[in-house]
Amino acid sequence: MTEKRVETIRWVGDEDGQLVLIDQTKLPLQLVELNCADVETVWEAIKSLRVRGAPAIGIAAAYGAVIGAQAAADDAAELLQRLQQVCEHLNASRPTAVNLSWALRRMEQRAAALRDESPPAIRAALLDEARAIHEEDRRMCRAIGRHGAGLLADGSGVLTHCNAGGLATAEYGTALSVFFTAQDNGKKLHVYVDETRPLLQGARLTAWELMQRGVPATLICDSMAAQVMREGRVQAVVTGADRIAANGDSANKIGTYSIAVLARAHQIPFYVAAPSSTFDLSIDDGGQIPIEQRAAEEITEGFGRQTAPAGVDVYNPAFDVTPADLIAAIITERGVVQPVTRDAIAAMLSE
Ligand code: MRU
Repeated sequence: MTEKRVETIRWVGDEDGQLVLIDQTKLPLQLVELNCADVETVWEAIKSLRVRGAPAIGIAAAYGAVIGAQAAADDAAELLQRLQQVCEHLNASRPTAVNLSWALRRMEQRAAALRDESPPAIRAALLDEARAIHEEDRRMCRAIGRHGAGLLADGSGVLTHCNAGGLATAEYGTALSVFFTAQDNGKKLHVYVDETRPLLQGARLTAWELMQRGVPATLICDSMAAQVMREGRVQAVVTGADRIAANGDSANKIGTYSIAVLARAHQIPFYVAAPSSTFDLSIDDGGQIPIEQRAAEEITEGFGRQTAPAGVDVYNPAFDVTPADLIAAIITERGVVQPVTRDAIAAMLSE
């Protein structure tokens, strides 16, 4: 394994440039980058989880929109029409993380405001907007860490599920930012990492990130969380989120809901760490969050080895929804929402 440090997502060049991503499907064995010079490559990278995590797919899609606007256009109207098609296409790559549609809407709105300008001026503005989305996420992640670190006591064991780290964001992460900041503040933590079946984001990505930063970490199978809690090893759970409804119900990687139920059963606080771009006030509760269904092969022959009888029926939802009443607090870049109520969320977002 190489120690080379690269950015999760970067843009190379000017408006005619390209997107470069860490190909997360290759981690932890290989740290390699993928060049995306056309929209299809960006779409495939999001769909195949080469880039993944709610904020990261929003950022990647924003740069994808820049790429989609690169083709020649006679005038602004033609460019705007093409941009709309590109954004619609990219938005269809994954349904659950609202950061994707949030970022693409921002790109379309920025372009629409310039409908009287020339295509080169619109292209320049689109790159500027994608860079702003990227930079804002960096800042939001740092702020989430600052707000959340105080919730963790020195010497705590903490548990996380999936990967809500630098790989899932511009850098630093959401849930992992809380751990990194607590450690930077001198607290000693021990992180229990759920491997996160079926695609092993915890084992492949979170364990790798924590080791890169020297945070003490222990990998467990998802099914071990209850035992680890019962043994008193965990004093808090922190996860990320893909979409948070107006009432605080939070979608995250499949298995998160079980962890929240287990945390409640063991009187352990369960925290969600997420930027304001992950809230979706257009939906009332978690029942309206679209849940991505993924291919059966991810379960029956994950990572290339068949582990179930051919033809077996499979159900593979990629996300679940944790009801707000199981969430002790939501840690955002604007502060900590605690207790998690509709009013507290609305107040935080309107600030
Ligand atoms: O399917 P994935 O790997 O994109 O799922 C990612 C998660 O569930 C993360 O926890 C979530 O996006 C938050 S990332 C800061």
